[in-house]
Amino acid sequence: MLVIIKEDYDKLSAEAAKIVADRLRKKPNLVLGLATGSTPLGLYKELIRLHQNEGLDFSKVTTFNLDEYVGLAPTHDQSYHYFMKTNFFEHVNLAKRFVHLPDGMTKDVNAFCQWYEERISEFGGIDLQILGIGQNGHIAFNEPGSSLGSRTRIKTLTKNTRQANARFFEQNEEVPKYAITMGVGTIMDAKELLLVANGEGKADAIKGACEGPISAMAPASIIQMHRNAIVVTDKSAGAKLQGSYVDSWENVVFD
Ligand code: F6R
Repeated sequence: MLVIIKEDYDKLSAEAAKIVADRLRKKPNLVLGLATGSTPLGLYKELIRLHQNEGLDFSKVTTFNLDEYVGLAPTHDQSYHYFMKTNFFEHVNLAKRFVHLPDGMTKDVNAFCQWYEERISEFGGIDLQILGIGQNGHIAFNEPGSSLGSRTRIKTLTKNTRQANARFFEQNEEVPKYAITMGVGTIMDAKELLLVANGEGKADAIKGACEGPISAMAPASIIQMHRNAIVVTDKSAGAKLQGSYVDSWENVVFD
């Protein structure tokens, strides 16, 4: 695993964007796994800047998002469809037909989840999966206790997650109870992982993910088993790490 610690959020975002841009320039038809949440916003902003100012081309890129709430229409301002559209998709030249997110409105969740897995395989698998991390060590909606071999499926959101989300909705009853999420196994099948984290609130989760015991109670810890995992943090999120880390990915050779 390659751990890169940058001075602050802007530098970590720029570093992560550099890695994505490098992979995209090497493979214009990259299959890119995407995450929502506040952490990758700076990375998306920088990719948009690279597209607008340096012609970074997304026209042949295929994307697969990690997760989506069940019951929220793509137009709902708290849906991950809406988040991706407003924060990334409408600012770059992605082809709509190559963009995939779990369908939170599907009538047949199991069939949809199977289709999503098959669709990823059809495109040859995910080349680079962007990940955030929850304070409890979750990746996507794989909360502690999730099977480390899990595939795309419906998950019940924990009480904590629902409480944390309540502020985005007018009524408590509106807070989604379920989500469709890629599984830990689905994520691990990606050829390369790029996990971003910032802020001291993530320091324990990053310590657990990079140096803790591998456990279903800390789903992100499974990335220690991945052959091509890169973790980029700011100083605060990386503050508890004891192992070796670098300050830039350039010129680093690892397998
Ligand atoms: C989002 C996702 C989540 C977030 C995680 C961190 O698609 O899969 O696992 O990455 O909850 O969220 P932020 O970045 O908001 O702290």
